[in-house]
Amino acid sequence: MALLQGKTGLIFGVANDRSYAWHIAKSLTAHGATCSFTALPGEKNERRTRKAVESLGLSDFWLRPCDAGKDDDLDTIFDQYVADHSRLDFVIHSIAFADRDWLAPGQFVNTPRQSYLSAIDISAYTLVGMAKRAAGPMADGGGGAILAMSYYGAEKVVPGYNVMGVAKAALECSARYLAAELGEKNIRVNTISGGPLRTLASSAVGGIGGMLEHTPTRAPLKRNIEGGEVGDAAVYLVSDLSSGVTGENLYVDCGVNTIGV
Ligand SMILES: NC(=O)c1ccc[n+]([C@@H]2O[C@H](COP(=O)([O-])OP(=O)(O)OC[C@H]3O[C@@H](n4cnc5c(N)ncnc54)[C@H](O)[C@@H]3O)[C@@H](O)[C@H]2O)c1
Repeated sequence: MALLQGKTGLIFGVANDRSYAWHIAKSLTAHGATCSFTALPGEKNERRTRKAVESLGLSDFWLRPCDAGKDDDLDTIFDQYVADHSRLDFVIHSIAFADRDWLAPGQFVNTPRQSYLSAIDISAYTLVGMAKRAAGPMADGGGGAILAMSYYGAEKVVPGYNVMGVAKAALECSARYLAAELGEKNIRVNTISGGPLRTLASSAVGGIGGMLEHTPTRAPLKRNIEGGEVGDAAVYLVSDLSSGVTGENLYVDCGVNTIGV
């Protein structure tokens, strides 16, 4: 059964074929969704994203540049999307940024003000900026689903995750406040807390090697997560199967978050 037949939406965060957003796009597409995409501005970035989307077997897809850290870019991307599409059923927020200089064990205390603020801006505020612009078009179609990617470092100290953990805490909390305000429009806002995966963004985190080594030794499933498992969980959260679920954080991490010692 195509769970997402007729649903169409916008995915932020495909950098290459290892991105969580790529896995999400793959699963959503497999279940019948029509996905549109954004890429970080710049010829190299746009070429890389285009190549990754093409590797999903898609050819005639909608792709526009967007730096989510700029309000003008967010205005433009949603205006252009609405001009070119009749519906907006989902938005996938799978973007994050923090200055890698401070993503090393022992470096959180040294985080400069500007690095702290830019991590929260790009990794958390952007969800609010996207939800604000998505709410109208989603409501026009009877509702929608907004989904953002988080990590366990939002809740517990993970050495090296540092300011990104602070940003993920803000992201998860923002999702709950958005869910509370947008629920009356039948817009649901959820996060997935994904296990560690080797990607461009995670390679900037000093402790990523340790996270990948630690998970199979402790997780109930005794292994690391695969990107496609997060993609499949996204299908659930975007589909009507989760029509009663909002403001939630769904762990897709082989269960490692459940283990205390
Ligand atoms: N890889 C992991 O271990 C892991 C685990 C849990 C959660 N996550 C989260 O998953 C999401 C996707 O990251 P990923 O691991 O797939 O890495 P990735 O590098 O493939 O994706 C990060 C994306 O963020 C985009 N981005 C950065 N700054 C941007 C800006 N100003 N405007 C628009 N886009 C911008 C990049 O272009 C890239 O596409 C992030 O939120 C990340 O924190 C990753």
